[in-house]
Amino acid sequence: MSFEIIGTGRGEPDFRLTNAILEKMVDTSDEWITQRTGISERRVMVDETMRDLALKSAREALKDGGITPDQLGYILFATISGEYRTPSQASILAMDLGVDCAALDLNAACTGFLYGLDMADALFQANKAEYILVVGMEIMSRYLDYTDRRTCILFGDGGGAVLLKKGNGLKAIHASGKGNIDVLNIPNVFPDTPWHKETETRNTIEMNGREVYKFAVGAFLDELNLCLNRAGMTAQDLDLVIPHQANSRIIESARERLGVSEETFINQVADRGNTSAGSIPLLLDELNRSGKLKKGMMLGLVAFGGGLTSAGAILEWTKE
Ligand code: ACO
Repeated sequence: MSFEIIGTGRGEPDFRLTNAILEKMVDTSDEWITQRTGISERRVMVDETMRDLALKSAREALKDGGITPDQLGYILFATISGEYRTPSQASILAMDLGVDCAALDLNAACTGFLYGLDMADALFQANKAEYILVVGMEIMSRYLDYTDRRTCILFGDGGGAVLLKKGNGLKAIHASGKGNIDVLNIPNVFPDTPWHKETETRNTIEMNGREVYKFAVGAFLDELNLCLNRAGMTAQDLDLVIPHQANSRIIESARERLGVSEETFINQVADRGNTSAGSIPLLLDELNRSGKLKKGMMLGLVAFGGGLTSAGAILEWTKE
């Protein structure tokens, strides 16, 4: 017995950073961005805070699931862009919800949300909680160099929350990693101390896009196939695949190799760009609220990201 999803919520900023705006900021073009990534615009937090958007997402998920905050056993918050080093974004959310449950942040970059589900699975198996809230949210815009055209066109802000309850929805889940600093990193810049002079000046993302791309396509298929295998299923048994939204070409390439139809794969990179740990919970909420998720549907979730990390899951949608 592990878990099922009983509620979802999301938080998205209002400001739309379009390719047309980026064309005026760096040497790029709508054509280049659309062809290479599929992205047309991304949302950026201007007046909003992660704290407010996380609270909104959590309240929506709790309402959708029909429970009160005091019933939560854990809050797992996947993010690499929390507002404080301490307290964690999860602790801030617990405080704002008025609950005293265990709360912690998870850093697995774009794979963070699925790592959160993996941790939740273990907690349910150990009988540690009846309900767990898993949030994935980012303010990637604060870690971008808007003079670097290789990275600033890719990312956006926002995320969502899912409420999990003990149940039989989860059919398989797997998380893995392949440590690598060079391919994708955001260093910390520490203040000088009497004993140490800081030499690092960059606290924005640096990425070797081609290497991430290669890793992504392989990891995507490995994770999904491994989970399908464990669940005793094939790709044809999946009603929907909800992949991390990084790049249309990565999603499309994985879809073709799996040999499933376009309708099976959710590809909404165009509207939001890459929201890192936020992308899958955002989509889960959007699909849930628009009535596209029907009871009994089999979902494949898959993500890859900095670390390097990757993860997959097969989940039956059990909600009416
Ligand atoms: N506009 C115009 N030209 C550009 C831009 C831009 N925004 N960015 C790069 N170029 C140029 C490069 O300078 C290069 O020019 P050159 O040939 O004269 O040197 C040319 O375009 C090709 O550059 P590449 O980097 O080889 O382009 P590529 O086809 O690999 O596409 C991209 C780059 C879109 C980044 C792709 O590699 C990719 O999507 N990789 C995966 C990235 C990803 O998913 N990252 C998220 C990781 S998840 C996480 O945890 C944060």
